[in-house]
Amino acid sequence: MKRSEPLTPLSWEHHSALVNANRIKRGIAVQADPIVIQEFLEYIWKTDLQGHFKREEDNFTTHPAWNDIADHLRRTMLNEHVELEDLVEKTINTSDRTVKTELMDKIADIIIAHVRFEERQLYPAIEEAFDSDTLQKIGKALKEQHVPGCIHWQPPFWEKPSNT
Ligand SMILES: [Fe+2]
Ligand SMILES: [Fe+2]
Repeated sequence: MKRSEPLTPLSWEHHSALVNANRIKRGIAVQADPIVIQEFLEYIWKTDLQGHFKREEDNFTTHPAWNDIADHLRRTMLNEHVELEDLVEKTINTSDRTVKTELMDKIADIIIAHVRFEERQLYPAIEEAFDSDTLQKIGKALKEQHVPGCIHWQPPFWEKPSNT
């Protein structure tokens, strides 16, 4: 889906969120140590995702036109942000490695679905409902606030160990 220019910085952030969610899923598939995967999850949560969610909430919900967006779209965005925060907290707080792994797999799935939902449904609705002046203002703020997502990470736990 072609993104309008103002929302493009958020789509860049979505790209790294997808890359990193897939790293978590591959890490689980190659049976990487859950603690090692969790360290990565905590890092991307704090440096990328929390800020990204806040940027969406601050830049979208503060404009009156936000209320013109269909209720279920607004609720899905906000509810999934809360759900992900809750699941990350549960992951950190459980010492059961199986539960930890299941939670991280679920988090990665929700991140992937959440990005798809926003790119395919929520952002097009915003691009339609918000007037172009508002979109330009949002775009300027988003460019200033943009944080490039985590790409380099050691160890690359998502790679299959070569000795097995
Ligand atoms: Fe979001
Ligand atoms: Fe997003």
